[in-house]
Amino acid sequence: MLMHCVCVYYYPQCPWIVPTVDSIFRAARKLGYKCCMYDLLSERLDEKALFKVYVDGNAVPIGIGMMDVNDIANRLLGVNMSFQEQGPSETAFSYTPKKQIAGKVDISPLSGDNIDDEIALCIGEDFLYGAIPQRFVKKAVEMKKRWLQHILSKFEACGYIAYLKKEPVGFVEFVPGELANKLGMKTLYSPKQTAVILCLSVKKAYWGLKIGSELIQRLINELPRAEYKFVEVTAYKSGLWHPLEFYLKNNFKIVKDLGNNVKMAYHPC
Ligand SMILES: CC(C)(COP(=O)(O)OP(=O)(O)OC[C@H]1O[C@@H](n2cnc3c(N)ncnc32)[C@H](O)[C@@H]1OP(=O)(O)O)[C@@H](O)C(=O)NCCC(=O)NCCS
Repeated sequence: MLMHCVCVYYYPQCPWIVPTVDSIFRAARKLGYKCCMYDLLSERLDEKALFKVYVDGNAVPIGIGMMDVNDIANRLLGVNMSFQEQGPSETAFSYTPKKQIAGKVDISPLSGDNIDDEIALCIGEDFLYGAIPQRFVKKAVEMKKRWLQHILSKFEACGYIAYLKKEPVGFVEFVPGELANKLGMKTLYSPKQTAVILCLSVKKAYWGLKIGSELIQRLINELPRAEYKFVEVTAYKSGLWHPLEFYLKNNFKIVKDLGNNVKMAYHPC
């Protein structure tokens, strides 16, 4: 009897891949499907995706983020494809801008010395999907560390971390256009001259204090030194993940409307 096979291809950029893959494999086992997983940093396969799931070679629409095992099983079966993907909880993250900041924000480039600060911010409870469940934390930390060490070994500039009184309070992570293209994010400008923002996150307690803007500003100011001309990001018309309004306020322009999301770019005049 032919056994169906679920294949997950991923780059280890987002630690939420760990619990997501666990849910996918539990769903697959429920259905009696075989599972395999390829970490594209190690496998060197010609797969262009941050995260892609296939059943017998057919792409299945599953995004990064914890999902219900039964919903995933439905997707793997190819039925009930119309249900809503579980999104981040909007209600837990009402945005209330604050007016004043207590102290000066220091922005440091991401380096081997502060890699753990970004990982802590990335895996902590402020993340859009909540905290990564405890049982996945060790693996998620290892995965994110490997990713950051990999990009740091290849590109001098790939992130900045914001500190307030030495406490890490936010970060921005970006990659050159050529790598972004491999992750499935096609750049509109020349990939060689473009930095693509993957993640931007500020600790919830510090939202509205312009820390996100300071991180973006630092990235923009350092563009010539890093030999980039443009910054691109995929921003969203609603929600807190790369909010369109935030990027508009930071002088990004919409360059392509994709429906729920838009491609935006910063282009120095
Ligand atoms: C988006 C985010 C980075 C903004 O950071 P921030 O420091 O609070 O933003 P700023 O204070 O610099 O905001 C600058 C402007 O953008 C606006 N803005 C910021 N977030 C906004 C949002 N979600 N919706 C609408 N406008 C927003 C602000 O109102 C402000 O406008 P103003 O100049 O008129 O006052 C932050 O809300 C965040 O971390 N969101 C969650 C992202 C996430 O979960 N990432 C997951 C890990 S990658």
